[in-house]
Amino acid sequence: MTLQQRPYPVVPAPRFDVPGSEATARAEAFADVMTLRRTVRDFSSRPVPFAIVEHAIRAAATAPSGANLQPWRFVVITDPERKRLLREAAEAEERDFYERRVSAEWLEALAPLGTDWRKPFLEEAPAVIVVFEVHKGPSTPRPYYVKESVGIAVGFLLAALHQAGLATLTHTPSPMRFLNEVCERPREERAYVVIPVGYPADDAMVPDITRKPVDEVTIRL
Ligand SMILES: Cc1cc2nc3c(=O)[nH]c(=O)nc-3n(C[C@H](O)[C@H](O)[C@H](O)COP(=O)(O)O)c2cc1C
Repeated sequence: MTLQQRPYPVVPAPRFDVPGSEATARAEAFADVMTLRRTVRDFSSRPVPFAIVEHAIRAAATAPSGANLQPWRFVVITDPERKRLLREAAEAEERDFYERRVSAEWLEALAPLGTDWRKPFLEEAPAVIVVFEVHKGPSTPRPYYVKESVGIAVGFLLAALHQAGLATLTHTPSPMRFLNEVCERPREERAYVVIPVGYPADDAMVPDITRKPVDEVTIRL
């Protein structure tokens, strides 16, 4: 089909050519950088340049999405008072979760991570990004594959922040409705994840866990 025959506007596909001789080394280097990403729960007070967060969100917002509806919003909280409110509300929900709603099986899965209802990182991290899914509302169309789209965007966001030297925590308080009020977002938006962002504290430690070997998670047919 020629350009003129298509019933929708088109532009040439952007080119990002990597010489064949470099491609494997680049793939290896990226994977090596990603193996250094860990979920950090102890942050230093060293400020985070907002430009890094902005570029990382720009990268996240390039993610593919169902029907290109881009059903995401990224709320960046740096104001200490707002972070305090966030922590207070999150800890109230989490306390109820850990003390009443969690199943024995779930607690067992969480045990090696040492997590509990306390969430000091929501105040200690210099920035907290709350990612929202955007559903059908007065001024927003019904989106498709929202969770898949937002999940891919969050993956891009975490990778972008990591390669700029920033540490992140993927935090999912349950339930998350309280985040609409804390972040002043309308009902058609639903919080997807809370991501404290910053530099690790000097003495930050992480659980001693491993990844499944690549051969185990790859099936070649
Ligand atoms: C969808 C999702 C939800 C998570 N929720 C929490 C959470 O609420 N609190 C927390 O401390 N870690 C949370 N984590 C972090 C995981 O525990 C962590 O990614 C996992 O243990 C692997 O460790 P790593 O990220 O350091 O490699 C979450 C991760 C994902 C992907």
